[in-house]
Amino acid sequence: MTDWEKLRAVAVEAAQAAYCPYSGLQVGAAAVCDDGRIVTGCNVENASYGVGLCAECTMAGQLRLTGGGRFVAVACRSGTGDLLMPCGRCRQILYEFGGPDCLMDTPDGPVPMSEVLPHAFGPADLP
Ligand code: THU
Repeated sequence: MTDWEKLRAVAVEAAQAAYCPYSGLQVGAAAVCDDGRIVTGCNVENASYGVGLCAECTMAGQLRLTGGGRFVAVACRSGTGDLLMPCGRCRQILYEFGGPDCLMDTPDGPVPMSEVLPHAFGPADLP
């Protein structure tokens, strides 16, 4: 059973590490993994604006760097605690490592990724 309040707080804490001199928006992502550990990410911007990294993207790197596995529950928050929904690209990145049953925090509460990215293209579609 996911402790969502804790996961949200961890996401806010991760957002404090953001490098966001261009947008000024700190974003943090936190996920419970299938082995119970928590991984985090923050956005990392760039002077070449288009190559900046979203928090969910750096969190996917942390998943791989810290032992791999799968996301089972994900929360994204600003540095001031506002709920943020992942952009389209990040929904796809989360789907790769969480699949349709991974739970995502939303304004309606936690919902499966299959509702956040309906009819998704994913690993199962490849030959
Ligand atoms: N951002 C994320 O980190 N995740 C998202 O899903 C949407 C946007 C970041 C990118 C950029 O650093 C800042 O938010 C403003 O767009």
